[in-house]
Amino acid sequence: MDRLEGIRAVIADGTNGPGVAAAQGNGARAVAPRQDGARRNGDGGDGTILRIDASARIEGATSRALIDRLIAGLGPGQAVLRRDLADPIPQIDAAWIAANGTPEAERTDAQRRALALSDRLVAELDAAALIVIGLPVYNFGVPAALKAWIDQVCRARRTFRYTPDGPEGLLTGKRAIVIYVAGGTRMGSDIDFASGYLRHVLGFIGITDVTFVDAGRHMADADALDRAAARVDRLAADLAAAA
Ligand SMILES: Cc1cc2nc3c(=O)[nH]c(=O)nc-3n(C[C@H](O)[C@H](O)[C@H](O)COP(=O)(O)O)c2cc1C
Repeated sequence: MDRLEGIRAVIADGTNGPGVAAAQGNGARAVAPRQDGARRNGDGGDGTILRIDASARIEGATSRALIDRLIAGLGPGQAVLRRDLADPIPQIDAAWIAANGTPEAERTDAQRRALALSDRLVAELDAAALIVIGLPVYNFGVPAALKAWIDQVCRARRTFRYTPDGPEGLLTGKRAIVIYVAGGTRMGSDIDFASGYLRHVLGFIGITDVTFVDAGRHMADADALDRAAARVDRLAADLAAAA
């Protein structure tokens, strides 16, 4: 095991934890309810954590390992819904755009079907108080799979609306944690087109309380993963203490 693999093994000493459900492809599975039914981490949703994995890799993905660690650090009893974008969701198309632009009451059955997955993805966001997103940097931006998810959940009159004062996000009262993972790109640098973009999009739909964990440059900086793991542990401890 080389040093990097060793560090990954340290990060990955958590598990998905109890109450984890998977939402893959077009299907979403039921979420185990919180034992005490209480809300946590914000006013939005019912207390569920929505976990979104965007790494195309199942094995050896640093972003997945760090999210595993965060969720394990929250302790038992968490209801976690998982949307794994390694099982890709379709890009929006002409039928989707036409359906989305048609007032809800006037949509045909075919138009409702065209928006069914988008409705489900938005419902997953609605239900969540805390959204944890694994953000691997691919070619200086967000993975195409994550962009497809973004296009599916940015819905005029549903997740944002335009007002005389400008756009207003409608998914308020939620918190997001973004695990930023890049081999050589420094988070916040001029060539990082991922973190600022994702922060903006989340804010656009109303999720303005966003915390980033920086695991950028982890292939160039030998300590980057140790620092990220320590940050994850502090975040998990703070969240658990606030619950
Ligand atoms: C297709 C592809 C493109 C990548 N582009 C970048 C890049 O632009 N900048 C960078 O720092 N790392 C880049 N990387 C490296 C990944 O960010 C790095 O391997 C990261 O650990 C991936 O996340 P994961 O471990 O969760 O899969 C790229 C990796 C892949 C597979």
